[in-house]
Amino acid sequence: MNVDLYEKIWIWAAVGIIVVFLASIGATFLGQAIQPPSHVETIDPETVRSDPEFSQPGVTIHSDGSATVVVQAFMFAFLPQEIRVPRGEPVTFRMTSPDVIHGFQIVRTNGNTMVVPGYVSQFTTRFSQAGEYLIVCNEYCGLGHHVMSARLIVEDMPGTAGAAGGGER
Ligand code: CUA
Repeated sequence: MNVDLYEKIWIWAAVGIIVVFLASIGATFLGQAIQPPSHVETIDPETVRSDPEFSQPGVTIHSDGSATVVVQAFMFAFLPQEIRVPRGEPVTFRMTSPDVIHGFQIVRTNGNTMVVPGYVSQFTTRFSQAGEYLIVCNEYCGLGHHVMSARLIVEDMPGTAGAAGGGER
């Protein structure tokens, strides 16, 4: 079979582009721990505010030092407004919305997900640097979208990895 030279060039160019795309997925997964959301759990949006879990948003620190953060994202705020989590421990965020689609992005970290009514969004991450982080909604959700934000405070807590490893203070 005779394949024209230009045809060959474009075939290999197409193959090369696919290789670059797959490699970039691998690099962001391995290097930055960025991965597509994989958690599927449904919830009736009408019951979010009376749900035993989501009507009590907040942080729970477990006996192994890890933490679970339950968040309500709604027009136009997050509850809780201030989230304190331990440094160096796995932190699992569980979020849902009683109204429309919101975003939950912890700026300067790999924590980022959509919050879709009807579903519980969940991801687990670790914060190695103590400090204050800004959480923003990154899905346009209405007139107050630009004021929808919260604060995340990562700190060394007694009995967690951060406290054991820290010599400072
Ligand atoms: Cu919530 Cu934009």
